[in-house]
Amino acid sequence: MKLLVINGPNLNMLGIREPDIYGRETYKDICLKIKTYAENIGVEVEIYQSNHEGDLVDKIQAAYGAFDGIVINPAAYTHTSVAILDALKAVSLPAVEVHISDVNVREPFRRISYAGMACEKSVIGKGTDGYLLAIQYLADKLK
Ligand code: DQA
Repeated sequence: MKLLVINGPNLNMLGIREPDIYGRETYKDICLKIKTYAENIGVEVEIYQSNHEGDLVDKIQAAYGAFDGIVINPAAYTHTSVAILDALKAVSLPAVEVHISDVNVREPFRRISYAGMACEKSVIGKGTDGYLLAIQYLADKLK
């Protein structure tokens, strides 16, 4: 089973960026944690990050026929991007949305998730363990 983990803008700054909200683990630490977890449960993962909306759309489209499921943290594009929502709908792969912070208790504009409308599950406010929960969910579903 092959899963694609997609991260949106500014997530490459984790560890530096607003540590009170997102913690002190670096993006590199998190990638290693995801890879190790996936390997231990027999799942192949590719991790992709971009700060550009169109690149995220391209990557979702390229997942069609190449991956069994998608874990996505679209970051700020969560709350704005109909293009990412449409790309997820277009490929129709099982997808899980992850947010490190609890977007429901922050600014009101973070409560809308376009991408979430194409995801069968949302893991919100569980810190970076949310990526592992999302991977486990898809692994259980697809096995
Ligand atoms: C985030 C929440 C978003 O509102 C924010 O723009 C991010 C990160 C999270 O993981 O908590 O960049 O998706």
